[in-house]
Amino acid sequence: MTAPASPAGRTLSGEAFPLTPNPAPASDADRAALMDKPVFGKVFTDHMARATWTGGAWSDRGVVPLAPLPMHPGAAVLHYAQQVFEGLKAYRWEDGSIWAFRPDANAERLQDSAERLAIPWLPVDDFLASLAALVQADAAWVPDEDGSCLYLRPYLMATEPSLLVQPADTYGYVVTASPVGAYMSSPDGVAIWVSRGYHRANAGGTGAAKTAGNYAASMLPQQQAKDNGCSQVLFLDAREDRFVEELGGMNLMLVFSDGSIATPRLTGTILPGITRDSIIALLREEGRAVRERDIELSEIVSGLESGAITEMFACGTAAVVTPLARLKSDDFDLPIGDGQPGPVATGIKKQLTDIQYGRAEDPFGWMVRLA
Ligand code: PLP
Ligand code: COI
Repeated sequence: MTAPASPAGRTLSGEAFPLTPNPAPASDADRAALMDKPVFGKVFTDHMARATWTGGAWSDRGVVPLAPLPMHPGAAVLHYAQQVFEGLKAYRWEDGSIWAFRPDANAERLQDSAERLAIPWLPVDDFLASLAALVQADAAWVPDEDGSCLYLRPYLMATEPSLLVQPADTYGYVVTASPVGAYMSSPDGVAIWVSRGYHRANAGGTGAAKTAGNYAASMLPQQQAKDNGCSQVLFLDAREDRFVEELGGMNLMLVFSDGSIATPRLTGTILPGITRDSIIALLREEGRAVRERDIELSEIVSGLESGAITEMFACGTAAVVTPLARLKSDDFDLPIGDGQPGPVATGIKKQLTDIQYGRAEDPFGWMVRLA
């Protein structure tokens, strides 16, 4: 199909982030080898975008050769994790054009996260221009196989050399780009470990912000998940240790035998996923009941045992839509449905990725052209 126009009716401009080309980019052969089945987030392109906050304003915007960051060992981010980040993808369409999925939503979430961490806001236009400039510079790194794309990782960090526990007065903004395929998969289906005793977030904490510390807190339970043969950890709420919240890096959806869907409501301790929001919109558009509500772990256990829950899937930028095959913890090990990807997860994954890769109409105007 022909590419529909982006909401702005044009390719986003990267002009605000001028390019200093990498004098020694990867050769065509090296790039092709690096892009052949890359491990998620282990391969980086030739350039990065960056800007600096100093004197109360953003400056020094540009796209520059990928290089280690000059960092004072006393930089506040290294001590107190004053940092926020985003994750989004650039998709190559059949006609060669390159598009982002709802980048304005990532820009706004970065601002919300920044506010919680007392970091100065990056204007939405700077966020969008930095993505366009980087993707235009590294367009050759955007894969063209189905399911592969360029993962963009924008982040803001406190660079001021200071051991005072107070907001810094200088910050860096950086965007890296990585060609990626699937984040998690397993020939036997993806199993999930329910963490008992460790929680990811608490009321009034930083759970709704996309900030490094939340992920640091998830490393030990994530390791326990791996030790128990699971790909990801599922966290319960910290207050009552009863309600499911989200996985270490993705949101959770349940499908019931009556065709309805439920997902934990956004309580302030859960990251408001853009994939979650988009899937809810698509499912409601096709007339399905989607409930955002409290979900007790005991309801899931009994629902899996009785067959009332027929599917569970994870969703997020990295995970896209990943059907789950087993739910495990210290005291249970339950198959989910028949352990095979279910029709709702399979259908919604196709709908979403068809929009992202330009194979279907984009009824909500989500796609924005980067190059
Ligand atoms: N929850 C957590 C903790 C995440 O890290 C992510 C990934 O960004 C998500 C949920 C899903 O969010 P999104 O769909 O915006 O990628
Ligand atoms: C993303 O999906 O963008 C994330 O940040 C999650 C992480 C597990 C890679």
